[in-house]
Amino acid sequence: MAITWEDKPLPEVVLRRLWLADAPRAHALSRLVGWSLTLASWERMILWGGRGCFALYRGDALVATAIATVYGRERAWIGGVITHPDHRRQGLATRLMAVALDYLRQRAIPHVLLDASEQGRPMYEALGFRPIYNIEVWAGRASSYLGPRARPLRRGDLDAVVALDAETFGVARGRILRRLVQDYPHLAWVDEEDGQITGFLLAQDDRQDGTPAHLGPWMHRSPWGAEKLLRTALSVLIGREVRVDIPDRNPHASALAYAHNLRRRRACTRMHLGPGDPPPELIAQHYGVAALATG
Ligand SMILES: CC(C)(COP(=O)(O)OP(=O)(O)OC[C@H]1O[C@@H](n2cnc3c(N)ncnc32)[C@H](O)[C@@H]1OP(=O)(O)O)[C@@H](O)C(=O)NCCC(=O)NCCS
Repeated sequence: MAITWEDKPLPEVVLRRLWLADAPRAHALSRLVGWSLTLASWERMILWGGRGCFALYRGDALVATAIATVYGRERAWIGGVITHPDHRRQGLATRLMAVALDYLRQRAIPHVLLDASEQGRPMYEALGFRPIYNIEVWAGRASSYLGPRARPLRRGDLDAVVALDAETFGVARGRILRRLVQDYPHLAWVDEEDGQITGFLLAQDDRQDGTPAHLGPWMHRSPWGAEKLLRTALSVLIGREVRVDIPDRNPHASALAYAHNLRRRRACTRMHLGPGDPPPELIAQHYGVAALATG
């Protein structure tokens, strides 16, 4: 299983890093397998993954990808794990996972998390990952209802938003949130009480054919405040297909999605590899995740 990241030919496959310039090819691969990730999402994933982005090539053809994104010193996420349908069941994804896990071991990152599809789960289990809970994908056409609205996020809110995200997610990821706000400034909202930020929702919409707008991260200290954020996002995106990825340990979140005309489409399994229990998070405040590929 040992395979280095150098351009070292294995029997027919070559391991390389995935760079920003490779985003269009990775995007084409994910379209081929039916994923709704946009080109802009791939560019961000590759940017955030940095040296943790890996690819296998056969000749000039990109045949497999995997990205490890590091958060602080304790935690990392693995996503973007895809093997081209013509090259499956040859151990390629397992090899790339070994490379990504080795990269994280070298950085002494103890906890690795990921969101596994049904297809991917057996491979991750074989590598030692254990299920924690499910993430449900809810989707539908955005419709709007009467009720109080949240307000647009202002630049001065960002520190409080990053702090609330860290409290909920369990680790600070300011560079991720700041980039999302920079890319979609018109799709960022906050709620506040007595001048304190109590919740926020960031959405992504690349308006690509067939790709729904993505709602999340979506976090709030209370269910009624979380609804206010959802109502606001849906009224701005009215008529658009939207999706939100909800941790099933927060039943308020799925109840809100249902009440706003979204329906559960499928689920994936959040999994953990590392010593002892998964790192702590405040799931009661977590209504929608930022992205399956990066947590
Ligand atoms: C999940 C996915 C990445 C697996 O890719 P892959 O390269 O086929 O994975 P591997 O070959 O390493 O392992 C898959 C299976 O092939 C088997 N296998 C590995 N080498 C083999 C070989 N030489 N001959 C036959 N079978 C082999 C493995 O034992 C494994 O079997 P299992 O599913 O019964 O456990 C791929 O199916 C895919 O891209 N799916 C769509 C996207 C997706 O869901 N990605 C996961 C996101 S979390």
